[in-house]
Amino acid sequence: MGHIFLYGPPGTGKSTVGRLLARNLKLPFVDLDRVVESNAGMSIPQIMGQQGEEIFRELETSALNMVIRQSESVVALGGGALLRYENRILVETHGKVILLMAQLETLFKRLNESSKIRPLLAGGLLEKLSSLLENRKEHYSSFPLCLVVDQGTAEENAYKAQMVLGRFHLSAMGEYDVIVQSIDQLASLLEARGLKNPIIVTDENVAFHAEKVAKSLHKIGLKPNTLAVPAGEEFKNLNTVSFLWKSFLENGLDRKSSVIALGGGVIGDMAGFAASTYMRGINWVAVPTTLLSMVDASLGGKTGIDLPEGKNLVGSFHPPMLVLADPQLLRTLPEREFISGLAEVIKHGILSDPELFNLCAQGLDCVKEEMEQLVKRAMAVKIRIIEEDPYEKGIRATLNLGHTVGHAVELVSKFQLRHGEAVSIGIVTEAKYAERIGIATKGLADTIAEVLSTLGLPIQIPKELSHEEIIRAMKVDKKRNAQAIRFALPAQIGKVELVDVTDLGSVLD
Ligand SMILES: NC(=O)c1ccc[n+]([C@@H]2O[C@H](COP(=O)([O-])OP(=O)(O)OC[C@H]3O[C@@H](n4cnc5c(N)ncnc54)[C@H](O)[C@@H]3O)[C@@H](O)[C@H]2O)c1
Ligand SMILES: [Zn+2]
Repeated sequence: MGHIFLYGPPGTGKSTVGRLLARNLKLPFVDLDRVVESNAGMSIPQIMGQQGEEIFRELETSALNMVIRQSESVVALGGGALLRYENRILVETHGKVILLMAQLETLFKRLNESSKIRPLLAGGLLEKLSSLLENRKEHYSSFPLCLVVDQGTAEENAYKAQMVLGRFHLSAMGEYDVIVQSIDQLASLLEARGLKNPIIVTDENVAFHAEKVAKSLHKIGLKPNTLAVPAGEEFKNLNTVSFLWKSFLENGLDRKSSVIALGGGVIGDMAGFAASTYMRGINWVAVPTTLLSMVDASLGGKTGIDLPEGKNLVGSFHPPMLVLADPQLLRTLPEREFISGLAEVIKHGILSDPELFNLCAQGLDCVKEEMEQLVKRAMAVKIRIIEEDPYEKGIRATLNLGHTVGHAVELVSKFQLRHGEAVSIGIVTEAKYAERIGIATKGLADTIAEVLSTLGLPIQIPKELSHEEIIRAMKVDKKRNAQAIRFALPAQIGKVELVDVTDLGSVLD
C-alpha cells in the first residue's frame, strides 16, 4: 500500500486525524510542514515572509522526496502541497491519498478557534478561506478517496479513514495488517514483512487465480509452488491437512517458510491450521476469495478442520501475518456463493453499521457497484469487535447474531442450504423473536427480512424441516451452556443484545 497521505484544506484536522490513524495502524506519523521547517531551520510563516510562496513550495517538494524514501508512514500534507503536479505524481506513485473535506463554516469555526499562524489565511479569514476553497474546488474534488469530517470526533474520523482506505491493524491476538487492495500488490506487502519461501495453498476452483499471485511474487524473485486441493467443506478434514503437511515437507518448507492461503473460508481455515501445526507453527497469509471469507472467516485468527461428528471441532488460534482482500476476485465467485456471503454483510450492518445496512437495502446491482466499500465496511465491523474481545469473553458473542438458529437450520437441511442462506433465515427468526419479547423495535424483523429477500436470500425456515430437529440441533450447538442458550438478538439496526433463552420452542413460534 505504501504511505498514506492526508490532504485537504486547512482546518480539516489532517495532523490530528493523521496522528490517530498512524497510532491505529502502528505506522510512524510525519507532518510534512514540520519536515519543511526543520530542513529550512525556520518556521513556515518566516519562510513565507522572507522567501515567498514559490520557495516554500520548492522546500515542500524536497521534503516530500525525503519522506517517500523512508519506510511506510502516515503523512499529513500542507493544504496546497499537491497543487504542484510533480508532488501529486510523487505521492500517488508511493501510496494512497485520502482527502479530508468539510464545509466552509466548519473550517472557519475550527481555524478561528486555533492559535496556529497560517500565512495564506492571515487577515480576513472567512473571505480568504472561502476564495481558497473556490479556487481549489476542482483540484480537491479530483481525489477519489474522500472523507467528510464536518461531524464526529478526530478519533471517529480516524476510524472512518481506515474504512475509506481499507486498512486495519489487529493487535489483540498477534500483530497483523488487514488490507483491501489488488493482489498485484501482494509481492511488495510480503517483502515488507520479510515473508520467505512461500507456498500457495488453494482449491481447484480458485487455482486459476494462483497464477496471478505467483506472477506477482516472481517480481521479487520468489517462485512459489501451488498446492490445489479439491474444493468444498467435505475436504476440510485431517486427510487434506495430512496431504498439506507432507507437501510442505516435499517442497522444503522450514520454520521460516510461509503459507499463502488463497481461497474461501475452507482454504483459509485449513491452510491456516496446517500452518499453525507444521513444525510447531509457521507464518501464513490469508488471501480470501469469497465474500464470506473476506468479511468474516479470514478475520480473527481462528483456524480449524471438521470431524465426521461435526464442523470445526479441531483447530487453533493462529492469526495470519497479513490479510489481503482484493474485491476484484469476487467477480468470478458463483452468484449463489456471493449472495450467501451477503447475509454476513447484512449481519454486520445490523450489529453496528446502519449505513452498511442501508447500502445493502439498495439491492444487488448497487451492492455489486459498491463492492469495495461494502467489503471495507463489513470488515471494519468484525475487526472492531474482535479487537475488543479476542477470546470471546463478551461482545464477540454478538457476532453469533442469526447463527444459533442458522447453524441448526443449516445442519437439519443436511447442508442443502448454504451457510449464509441459513444465517439469513436465522437472523429473521431471531429478529421476530426479539420483537415478540420486546427487545426489538416494532417492525424491525420485517425491515430486515425485506432487505435479505431483496438480495435473494431465504427468510423462512423451509416447511420440510422439523422444528423439533432444529431445537435439538440448537441444544447440541457448542455455544450452549448448562441451563440456557445465549442468543445475540437485534434491538435496532446498529444494536444487538445478548439474551439467555431457556424455552427454545418459543424462538421458532
Ligand atoms: N475461521 C473463522 O473464523 C470462520 C468464520 C466463518 C466461517 N468459517 C469457515 O468458512 C467456511 C466457508 O467459507 P466459504 O463460504 O468461503 O466457502 P468455500 O471456501 O467452500 O468457498 C465456496 C466455493 O466458492 C469457490 N470459490 C471461492 N472463491 C472463488 C472465486 N473467487 N471464484 C470462483 N470460485 C470461488 C470455492 O472453490 C468453493 O467451491 C466454512 O468451513 C466455515 O466453517 C470460518
Ligand atoms: Zn457465519
